[in-house]
Amino acid sequence: MLKVGVIGLGSISEHHINPYLKNDDVELVAFCDINEQRLKDKGQQYNVPKLYSDYRELLNDQAIDAVSICTWNNSHAEIAEACLQAGKHVLVEKPLSITLEEADKVKKAAEESNKVAQVGFVRRFGNNTKILKEFIDSGELGELYYAKASILRRLGNPGGWFSDKERSGGGPLIDLGVHVIDLCWYLMGKPKPISVSGNTYSRLGNRNNIKNLDFYKAADYDPIKNDVEDLANVLIRFENGASLFVDVSFTLHMKKDETSIKLYGDQGGAEIEPELLLVKEMNNTIMNIDPQIDKKAFDYRQAFHSEVNHFIDCCLGRSVLLAPISDGYEIMKILTAVYESAESKREIYFT
Ligand SMILES: NC(=O)c1ccc[n+]([C@@H]2O[C@H](COP(=O)([O-])OP(=O)(O)OC[C@H]3O[C@@H](n4cnc5c(N)ncnc54)[C@H](O)[C@@H]3O)[C@@H](O)[C@H]2O)c1
Repeated sequence: MLKVGVIGLGSISEHHINPYLKNDDVELVAFCDINEQRLKDKGQQYNVPKLYSDYRELLNDQAIDAVSICTWNNSHAEIAEACLQAGKHVLVEKPLSITLEEADKVKKAAEESNKVAQVGFVRRFGNNTKILKEFIDSGELGELYYAKASILRRLGNPGGWFSDKERSGGGPLIDLGVHVIDLCWYLMGKPKPISVSGNTYSRLGNRNNIKNLDFYKAADYDPIKNDVEDLANVLIRFENGASLFVDVSFTLHMKKDETSIKLYGDQGGAEIEPELLLVKEMNNTIMNIDPQIDKKAFDYRQAFHSEVNHFIDCCLGRSVLLAPISDGYEIMKILTAVYESAESKREIYFT
């Protein structure tokens, strides 16, 4: 039985807590949040006995084997590094950090420990991703040489810490782009990036003036502070000649929200968002192939259960880690280079 603690008890923590409660190999024993009221409420709601307002106290608890980190982005790296140094297994939410220096420290701590260190790239755990990965691995799409992903919200700056750069590290690029850049990179076989060219824009603000249209808001919504970009785009080149284009927004003057992820190979293509679809040439005819599976779209609940159960299986030595901290570091290398490219208005080359 693994004794588990959860640090940070806001919106996403539910998607860690519920799978832990359903896992027969887990005893959920501790919670931590700097918000004392939330800590007390969640402790009562889930009947969790040990409640800490300082993560260091939780880490001093020798009985705890593994920890989920669901705090704001600015504390991910510090807490993950401390967890590994305290001998705990770690599942840290995305992004791994807000700077590359911090990501490097966690990567080193992971290398020096014999503990499981997983980053929360939940999209890798969607059933539709697993199915597509099998098609790619069996060569159905041939060599993937181009991918294109968009998560464009017309109105969707969540406010609160999301729009406070000090706590989030940035806007839609670090919040949404991190998922799709990782997913494409992973499905493309993790090619080595050689350069990025990016642009960020802060032209529309958070648009909290908009009436009559609802949108997603952070647990502690507050529109006052907004110093993050509202649109970002990037072209990433890889050593093997492949390229990836991504654009993401918190707000944009567009007709409706747009989410799409497309990958193109020399033997076939695929869409994974909004739904899994394959494209092949058969008998000199182009075929759009509609897979007959239970769920063709990304299933949030299923993916989080699969991610958390995989983490536990890895802690118990039953599985090989699918989303290691070192991948979190590689993605931070790309994200920080996009911000640098946008700031300096030039392409950034990796050495
Ligand atoms: N994987 C996904 O699809 C996904 C989706 C949403 C959010 N997230 C990530 O999850 C994290 C949390 O997001 P959220 O939407 O739950 O935010 P939230 O604001 O709802 O919750 C964050 C909680 O962390 C607490 N906290 C902050 N710093 C802390 C610290 N140092 N120690 C203890 N508690 C601390 C806050 O008080 C708050 O209760 C973010 O990093 C976000 O990027 C991931």
